[in-house]
Amino acid sequence: MPQTDPLAPSLAPIDATPQSLAEVETLVWSMLKLGVVDRRNQFHTPTFVTLGVGDYAGLPQARVVVLRGVDRTARQLHFHTDYRASKVAELAANPDSVFVFYDPDSRMQLRVHSRARVHYQDEVAQAAWDATRLFSRRCYLANIASGSPSDRPVSGLPDGWERRNPNEAESLAGWPNFCTVIAEIVEMDWLLLEASGQRRARLKWHGTAWQSSWLAP
Ligand SMILES: Cc1cc2nc3c(=O)[nH]c(=O)nc-3n(C[C@H](O)[C@H](O)[C@H](O)COP(=O)(O)O)c2cc1C
Repeated sequence: MPQTDPLAPSLAPIDATPQSLAEVETLVWSMLKLGVVDRRNQFHTPTFVTLGVGDYAGLPQARVVVLRGVDRTARQLHFHTDYRASKVAELAANPDSVFVFYDPDSRMQLRVHSRARVHYQDEVAQAAWDATRLFSRRCYLANIASGSPSDRPVSGLPDGWERRNPNEAESLAGWPNFCTVIAEIVEMDWLLLEASGQRRARLKWHGTAWQSSWLAP
């Protein structure tokens, strides 16, 4: 099978290459919204980057998360996590964070700089928890915290939970481990790979409006 180089743009043009910064902005938000609703879309699973603490102080930490919500008016991205996960302590120490998205079909990269806040045991977390499916709640039942060393391979789940989903009442044991992260976007860097020339733009929030500019790719 021929190898494909992701940096070598296909000769086929994408459906509608943005011609203006306003069109870039519209496209970016529609891609993000698609990422929330379509779990097969590549924007569904961005890489989320924080700065490490403790032994990893000052070192970048990256992991994949599932994009659960987008709010254009509030300029927010949402995802869920376990309150015991490293990223929670990292965000408490420093909310500066980055999401990286790449969709090979449209050949679009989006880097989103944000300031992220963890919501735990509050109304925001409750609303997010209420919207989760029982299948998704199962991972919050883990009694061995994420990142704990183990002398054998473990899922972290108590015995028996690996093979079934909790019912509504059983799932409530996961609530003390659940939290939701709301990341407020401060800047976005958009890159489109195109045969006729790549395109790049920066969208920066200036308190009352987005200020956008083209950049050399
Ligand atoms: C496809 C995929 C989706 C994931 N979604 C999430 C998620 O939404 N939230 C989350 O906390 N971890 C998610 N993970 C696991 C994280 O990538 C990571 O391994 C875990 O959260 C521990 O990260 P931390 O120790 O840096 O906090 C996902 C992993 C994969 C492969």
